[in-house]
Amino acid sequence: MAESPGPFTLVIDSDKIAWLTLDLAGSKVNLLGSDTMGCLDQRISELESRIATGQPVAVVIRSGKPGTFIAGADVREFAKIGGPAEAKAKSAEGQRIFRRLDRLTVPTIAAIDGVCMGGGTELALACDWRLATDRPSTKIGLPEVKLGIIPGWGGCVRLPRTIGIQRALTMILTGSATPVSRGVRWGLVDRVFPVDRFDDEVKAFAIDVVRGQVARAPRRMSLKDKLLEHTGPGRRTLFAAARKQALKTSKGHYPAPLEAIDVVERTIDESIDDALVTENDGLARVAATDVSQNLIRLFTIGQEAKRALPGRVLGQARPVQRAAVLGAGIMGGGIAELIAAHDVPVLMKDIQQDALDLGLHHASGLLKKAGDRGVFAPTEAGLKFALIHGTLDYEGFDEVELVIEAVVERMPVKQQVLREAEEHLSEQAVFATNTSSLSVSELAKASSRPERVVGLHFFNPVHRMPLVEVVRTEHASDEALATAFAFVSDMGKTPVLVGDRPGFLVNRLLGPYLNETGYLLEEGAAVAQIDRVLTEFGMPMGPCRLLDEVGFDIAQHVAHEMERAFGERMAPSSVVGKLVEDGRLGKKNGRGFYTYAKGRQQGVDRDVQRTLGSGSSVSPADIGDRCLFLLVNEAVHALAEDIVASPGDLDLAMVMGTGFPPFRGGLLQWADTVGAPRIRDRLLEFEAVHGSRFTPAPGLISLAEDGGSFTAA
Ligand SMILES: NC(=O)c1ccc[n+]([C@@H]2O[C@H](COP(=O)([O-])OP(=O)(O)OC[C@H]3O[C@@H](n4cnc5c(N)ncnc54)[C@H](O)[C@@H]3O)[C@@H](O)[C@H]2O)c1
Repeated sequence: MAESPGPFTLVIDSDKIAWLTLDLAGSKVNLLGSDTMGCLDQRISELESRIATGQPVAVVIRSGKPGTFIAGADVREFAKIGGPAEAKAKSAEGQRIFRRLDRLTVPTIAAIDGVCMGGGTELALACDWRLATDRPSTKIGLPEVKLGIIPGWGGCVRLPRTIGIQRALTMILTGSATPVSRGVRWGLVDRVFPVDRFDDEVKAFAIDVVRGQVARAPRRMSLKDKLLEHTGPGRRTLFAAARKQALKTSKGHYPAPLEAIDVVERTIDESIDDALVTENDGLARVAATDVSQNLIRLFTIGQEAKRALPGRVLGQARPVQRAAVLGAGIMGGGIAELIAAHDVPVLMKDIQQDALDLGLHHASGLLKKAGDRGVFAPTEAGLKFALIHGTLDYEGFDEVELVIEAVVERMPVKQQVLREAEEHLSEQAVFATNTSSLSVSELAKASSRPERVVGLHFFNPVHRMPLVEVVRTEHASDEALATAFAFVSDMGKTPVLVGDRPGFLVNRLLGPYLNETGYLLEEGAAVAQIDRVLTEFGMPMGPCRLLDEVGFDIAQHVAHEMERAFGERMAPSSVVGKLVEDGRLGKKNGRGFYTYAKGRQQGVDRDVQRTLGSGSSVSPADIGDRCLFLLVNEAVHALAEDIVASPGDLDLAMVMGTGFPPFRGGLLQWADTVGAPRIRDRLLEFEAVHGSRFTPAPGLISLAEDGGSFTAA
């Protein structure tokens, strides 16, 4: 029996099992927007009246889209929320509908195949049982804190009751998706079935439940966990530790994790209905704040970035079934690991056996760690590693669709490698360079098919950094660009299209920022002081620490490339050169601004401060403004040159490529809160004292004069 159409369709089969199937038309994934929730509400009314007549005897909720269950609430609707009252009403409505679901008097089963996130997880928690497929992509999560809010459709209330307080806090506070294997261990998933027999198994399970033949596995808990979760003092300890950790991670910039902890603590012993009211109040406190609006904006831009190429161009992408990496260094090893982790066979070529061995070792270690962290089953790490084939020659290169070059940063070497590789590649293969500062067009001059040469600029460390700049040259074909772009998305990274100018976007903007650090040090500012000002602003690490990570030799090389390209405003200070002369390379040789023990950063190296000498002090306000306003100024130059398509793309790239504080919404979003006139005035003040590197960009002057906004530019 089929009911009226809608995103949720209801069919009751001959065994009196109701199948409530969600299939949102015109969308790749199922999202719980207002209309879909309204339809669910209606279907629940239908179910209630039918249950009263004796059928159905059980309800199964599933997705009509294989491989994706429900990706969450519709974030576009959040973005339009005007204030806390509206957020509160939206949360109350979702709570009400899921409460009706959990009050149905027959067993309810969520049949989860593929990603189940946010509102989807809250829906599944309102069901009596949760069954999942063994598909590797089946994962369950509550990522709300990543958007600056808390689960507000019953997630904070039902999850701790289902899997215990500590595990619930882990899921809610990290926002990370839980793989099925862990879901079973934690009591979140009741059974796992093979994907090819899923519906049959779900049906058999439903029949068994109706017959009373299924027992729920008892939740196992260690004595320590029982003491922590079930006694007053234990709970106080547990919640205090959670708050301490949340504050450490959020550095006080993100209110949602603390609010989630408060809600879980306050609601754990309340009745469900009282608890939902408490959750609703908690959500209203964090929703529609600047932080949540900024995070939601970045999320939305990230989604749009995946559609940056028009459909007709992206449609030309060739699937990459085999790939190759040239160079087995820091980047080559990381890129090979990423590709293998996504189950694509990859050749990794170097010219030295030692380097190859190191690259393989690096990749193997990363895969093992990913398995241990639950990114995939630990047993899969070995299988994935077997997909990387280390080689010193070009055997097998004729079969790859994409090769990523990550050899040393020297144009003649890269051109030579390109020429060599092309002798072995198929005509259609795309050649992508991972250069961080050289011109891709210049490199392509060495190619016999420049239309197949693009840039794919990964960031270090590859497995952690979400951004990849996709560099388009004048000659690159749509097909080559689309292949590289789609590949980046398939690898779970965020591609941002950038123009082919030195430093592309992110390194170019970082140029003046890092140079300024050198000038500040020359003037006598202290390493710890500079880093403190910028970390207090929200940067994940200060610029001195960042230079240590990059390596002084590399920083020096890139700085000279930038100066050559952009002239005086990118001229570096003498500091990095002095440090290199002093035998310092940064973290990699354990001699940077900081000292290192077993690769871990210790305190500031006092000798470094001595080498640099001391001068007059610089005020924290000047340190912050000089570094950050130069970033904004360079961003305006880059936008004027169309290095990126939009201010939104620029903000996304800076957050994903440098860790620019997401709670500030991105560089330009933040610049808007400061205002163009103030930034211009401060730059003019600095220009008068320190010279032309502070000259405001023409675009910045216009914005300041016209009262324009950076993000609308
Ligand atoms: N390290 C970073 O933070 C970073 C970040 C982004 C981009 N990049 C870029 O990635 C590229 C590689 O950087 P890296 O840090 O991995 O360098 P690396 O020095 O660690 O590794 C380079 C590797 O290339 C190998 N190699 C040299 N000539 C070769 C050839 N002809 N064929 C095959 N292999 C060859 C070397 O033996 C070495 O193993 C550079 O272009 C760099 O600018 C680096």
